[in-house]
Amino acid sequence: MAVDRDTKKGPLLTVAELAPGARHAKFPHLFSPIRLGPITAKNRIVNSAHQPRFAHAGHYTEQLIAYHRERAQGGAAVIVSGATSVTPDYLDLKNVDGRIVDEYQQVMEAAMTAYTVFCSDASKMFA
Ligand SMILES: Cc1cc2nc3c(=O)[nH]c(=O)nc-3n(C[C@H](O)[C@H](O)[C@H](O)COP(=O)(O)O)c2cc1C
Repeated sequence: MAVDRDTKKGPLLTVAELAPGARHAKFPHLFSPIRLGPITAKNRIVNSAHQPRFAHAGHYTEQLIAYHRERAQGGAAVIVSGATSVTPDYLDLKNVDGRIVDEYQQVMEAAMTAYTVFCSDASKMFA
């Protein structure tokens, strides 16, 4: 289905336009796969890095994992995590103890239920 709309008058995409096989006039490639180095993303929809404030004490919570799962199941091909730091004095998720390894496993599995690529955004790599 091709749709052309003045985006200032309404949402960029409606639910109907997000249906499988839909084709938006302004973004004809939005739903086609794209190669990103060694992987192929199922479409061009990327959920960029942000902190929804669902992490707790530097760790993923069930709420944060569910948040990413819903975005994956909503259609995003690539999800970038919020800030993940290697020092305890920076933002959000902190790679400072082994517990986070299991949490990464859980969030990756949540994303993979929808064939979504999950990227961890390493921030403040050097103290
Ligand atoms: C580690 C990291 C964390 C970010 N956190 C936020 C955030 O909490 N809120 C936000 O609006 N943008 C955040 N951003 C920026 C967004 O990912 C995005 O680049 C920005 O909103 C601009 O989007 P646009 O280029 O589509 O306008 C973050 C970026 C990075 C790299």
